[in-house]
Amino acid sequence: MSDKSEEKKAGSENQSKNVTNSNETEPTLSKSQKKRAKKQQKKNSESADEKRSSSKSESEEKPSTDESKEEKSKEEELTVELPKKKQQIVPMIRKFDENGKALRTIAGNGQVFLGEITPHNIMQLKRLNEAVFPIAYNDKFYVEARTCGDLGRLAYYNDVVVGAVCCRIDDISDEKALYLMTLGTLAAYRQCGIGTVLIDYALKLCKKMEEIKTMYLHVQVNNQNAVHFYEKHGFTNDGIIEDYYRISPRDAYLLIKRIRY
Ligand SMILES: CC(C)(COP(=O)(O)OP(=O)(O)OC[C@H]1O[C@@H](n2cnc3c(N)ncnc32)[C@H](O)[C@@H]1OP(=O)(O)O)[C@@H](O)C(=O)NCCC(=O)NCCS
Repeated sequence: MSDKSEEKKAGSENQSKNVTNSNETEPTLSKSQKKRAKKQQKKNSESADEKRSSSKSESEEKPSTDESKEEKSKEEELTVELPKKKQQIVPMIRKFDENGKALRTIAGNGQVFLGEITPHNIMQLKRLNEAVFPIAYNDKFYVEARTCGDLGRLAYYNDVVVGAVCCRIDDISDEKALYLMTLGTLAAYRQCGIGTVLIDYALKLCKKMEEIKTMYLHVQVNNQNAVHFYEKHGFTNDGIIEDYYRISPRDAYLLIKRIRY
């Protein structure tokens, strides 16, 4: 280590000697030599300028590279994918008439994402339910819903909550059943397949949970759309339960689907 430092010292001494020498020789130059020297000096300074400007443009590029890197990482942060367990990508279902013309379609060519219900987005579920159902669910419902885990999902279309499903597990005469507390989509997004995406999610849940034997729910007797919807998905109408609701009509249909025996 000590040898290297001495080499450096000697080199710098020689350099300073050369500088002194060149200064000493200057006054002895002839006119033409001076001219040539000036020309050379000009040339040197021009090339030095060029070098400087090129290194400047390089250094100008550098921060922009860092910036773009930063932007990229920011973008990655924003578009980070949720864990597969918490989000399923579901293809959009559209309706067409016999000529292939779209009967009902919604803006964009997006997909429906099913996301977990959490304490952070519970108010979105509340707003959605207020828009979709004629009855108001109490605080207890939302306290349970925000920690319901896989028993609930919000449906997102273009990052907007457009539907939701909330279930609970009930014990019915020694059998476990999945009770569909709420399943609904915003009116503007109906008949586009989002309801199907939500019911399919609940059915898959039942298939995964081996202890679940049936799935059931109540609908108001005037809700023919919902009755059609559930019958289409394999539910059978098990009759009327009188005075089930506090709002009119008070009667409800009991819809049941057997999952396994
Ligand atoms: C029932 C409901 C969830 C269906 O959601 P959706 O997103 O429209 O469902 P999909 O597009 O997947 O399925 C449409 C099916 O629902 C039924 N349906 C929905 N709207 C209908 C309408 N206006 N007229 C007739 N049938 C209708 C039909 O069976 C239809 O199938 P089809 O087009 O093959 O006839 C939705 O209408 C809703 O949120 N209703 C209010 C809340 C509610 O009543 N929930 C049920 C009790 S929990």
